[in-house]
Amino acid sequence: MSYTIALNFEDGVSRFIQCNVNEKVLDAAYRQKINLPMDCSDGVCGTCKCRCESGQFDLGDDYLDDALSDEEREQQMVLTCQMVPESDCVINVPMASSLCKTAQQRWTTTVAKVEQLSPTTVELTLDCDEAAEVNFLSGQYINLSVPQGDVTRAYSFSSCPGTAPLTFLIRNVPDGAMSHYLTQQAKPGDTMTIAGPQGSFYLREVTRPLLLLAGGTGLAPLLSILHSVNQQGITTPIHLLYGVSRDDDRVKCDVLTAFTEKLAQFDYQLCVSDPHSSEPLKGHVTDHIRPELLHNGDVDIYLCGPPPMVDAVMIWLNAQGVTPAHFYYEKFTPQVAQVSV
Ligand SMILES: Cc1cc2nc3c(=O)[nH]c(=O)nc-3n(C[C@H](O)[C@H](O)[C@H](O)COP(=O)(O)OP(=O)(O)OC[C@H]3O[C@@H](n4cnc5c(N)ncnc54)[C@H](O)[C@@H]3O)c2cc1C
Ligand code: FES
Repeated sequence: MSYTIALNFEDGVSRFIQCNVNEKVLDAAYRQKINLPMDCSDGVCGTCKCRCESGQFDLGDDYLDDALSDEEREQQMVLTCQMVPESDCVINVPMASSLCKTAQQRWTTTVAKVEQLSPTTVELTLDCDEAAEVNFLSGQYINLSVPQGDVTRAYSFSSCPGTAPLTFLIRNVPDGAMSHYLTQQAKPGDTMTIAGPQGSFYLREVTRPLLLLAGGTGLAPLLSILHSVNQQGITTPIHLLYGVSRDDDRVKCDVLTAFTEKLAQFDYQLCVSDPHSSEPLKGHVTDHIRPELLHNGDVDIYLCGPPPMVDAVMIWLNAQGVTPAHFYYEKFTPQVAQVSV
């Protein structure tokens, strides 16, 4: 038996290691060729101090207060040379991955399916022989190379971590490199390279109601989050507001409806900004965030979409005078300058 430990490095790279029962995180990482910061390895110097974002663990009491104070411990700081996981954990490492002699991973995948879900959205399904190794935290993204091109683009997983195949929701941008490939050239069997996972937008431990806000294909990481919530059997109230520009842009409503049946406390609303929409809710997501969805601030908000939508929601939230317990967001910023993986 072993636990899966996600190591999130300062440069956004995530690596996953397996930690055996009674094994210390520092030792498990080293065994898997990741040199986490360390000096004494004995709970004395504090060099291995990291922050444990989620999970249960035992730190023992064989370390010095100088290395880790009670106050730091309360702030979820840990010494990886002392930390013995008792569940899967997520650990933030305050150092770039390259300094720990590691980097993002790459895999060769095969296109299983490319489906035009709407005029503006394509669903890409990738098979990977090493699918079990392609681990990620729900909400994270990978860099996907355009075949025979010299560019990569970032895409958030819409599938559930640890399951095959890998799926993505991709906006069809006129004249876009990836958009052109997916709509004009892609066919099952094509090879695509993925590199990652990356990103600090991922589902944290759920301890209070969630408000999920999606704009367009920003729905992708929130679908992945819903899959994880369902897998973990989480029962806190979850509300999703999904905004699109036109009726034609609506995708995956069948999947969202299925989640309302699987998750007792989940519901979602769709709003369309086109005033001629056939949907009852028209306008932007900010027009439909009712006060009760903010739970007087006792809420964790996850927001994802194109930069103008994310900015508009942030401005709106600031104006409400309610500070959510946690607020996480991902902007789908265009990356025209990136080179191949
Ligand atoms: C962390 C992260 C995660 C992302 N995840 C997703 C995802 O899950 N799904 C998804 O659809 N996108 C996602 N994106 C955006 C994605 O990486 C690409 O930027 C997008 O798919 C366009 O790629 P392209 O090659 O088709 O167009 P490009 O060749 O990059 O762009 C062609 C032209 O269109 C412009 N352009 C690019 N995007 C837009 C846009 N949205 N609106 C208007 N003009 C645009 C560019 O500036 C350029 O002039 C993500 C971006 C980031 C940073
Ligand atoms: S390496 Fe010195 S306290 Fe952990």
